[in-house]
Amino acid sequence: MTSLELAKEFIGRSPGFYEDLALEDLDCKHASIIEDAYNQIGEADLHNRFDYRTWSRQSDLSVPAQISKKSIVENGFFYTVARYLYRKLACAKANKLLVQALMDDIGMLVEVGGEKYMLENPVHLTPNARDYYFLKNTSVNLRWLRYLYLLVQIEKKELLSDGDVWVDIGSYYGGLQGLIRKYQPSTRMVLVDFHHQLCRSYVYLKKQYKDSVHIFPDELHRFSGIKDFPRGAFIYIPVTSYKEIANETADLVTNFFSLGEMKREFFTEYMKSVLFVNSKNVYLVNRFVSAPFFEPTYDTDLNILDYDVQGRDVVYFDIFPMHHFMLRQSTFHGMPGIRNVSSPYFEMITKVSA
Ligand SMILES: C[S@@+](CC[C@H](N)C(=O)[O-])C[C@H]1O[C@@H](n2cnc3c(N)ncnc32)[C@H](O)[C@@H]1O
Repeated sequence: MTSLELAKEFIGRSPGFYEDLALEDLDCKHASIIEDAYNQIGEADLHNRFDYRTWSRQSDLSVPAQISKKSIVENGFFYTVARYLYRKLACAKANKLLVQALMDDIGMLVEVGGEKYMLENPVHLTPNARDYYFLKNTSVNLRWLRYLYLLVQIEKKELLSDGDVWVDIGSYYGGLQGLIRKYQPSTRMVLVDFHHQLCRSYVYLKKQYKDSVHIFPDELHRFSGIKDFPRGAFIYIPVTSYKEIANETADLVTNFFSLGEMKREFFTEYMKSVLFVNSKNVYLVNRFVSAPFFEPTYDTDLNILDYDVQGRDVVYFDIFPMHHFMLRQSTFHGMPGIRNVSSPYFEMITKVSA
């Protein structure tokens, strides 16, 4: 099946697919992304294609200029060379910063023991990859390096074992699930996100794991609880159905780069749910401050003090290392320059207290 056919299959199996804009307490960044996603899906028939991974509102966080055979074959000689020259000449400074950020992330990954995973998982071989930077024996992009790091942590800290249930809130296009699945084949992977993101994840994961069980939103009522999901299944739960699992517990609950972007009401619904309070392991990577006064990046007033750890043991806490030293060109008080992001990210793993 083509990506477009898979997307249509998912939409047909998702009651209320086009109703996410009616969600109460939606932040403005995601309201605008969802609106554009519905337009993108509406126009997919016209173009006879569905770009589920990289599209006008989302990307793998870019890569530095490079000419590769794969890009010439897939994007054409002219496009590849023109993009290379543009990045190398017109955006020379940004390109240099990107090389540095990529190399820093690779260094961090190697330092924590992730080289093996980087070599085993070249990103250019994953479905619909557009951003890839070839190294000697593999290929990467910034988002992929983040996923490789998270894989290392989940494996090293033994957060998942045979047949466990993992619930990820904000799973994007399913890249992390596809990667971890290779090392945890019997894990029941529950993805919670807006309908359009689950649709992207379904297309991506179905292309990678076509023989696995994929449970659509319209099938959820068949299961008595999350422990009832089959081993090795991917389960797609729209934000609107979160309440169906909110009072259950899982072996691992994760949220990466997402809770800190939500309005407080949404954040509280997740953080105060039994799933977050009582699940065996909870692994979070989010901002220290979502909207610093000097640059209110997100439309929310959340900060680190809101992440409630009562009744839980903090077994790991540090600065999230990936992209930490990354600098980008920006304008601040009308002055163009090279700056870091407005807040660093924390990485925290908690276990339910015995
Ligand atoms: C910045 S992306 C991060 C994606 C991914 N976790 C990663 O690290 O690459 C934020 C993700 O959270 C999702 N998200 C935003 N608000 C949400 C909400 N209220 N409930 C569930 N997912 C949400 C977005 O749709 C998106 O997939």
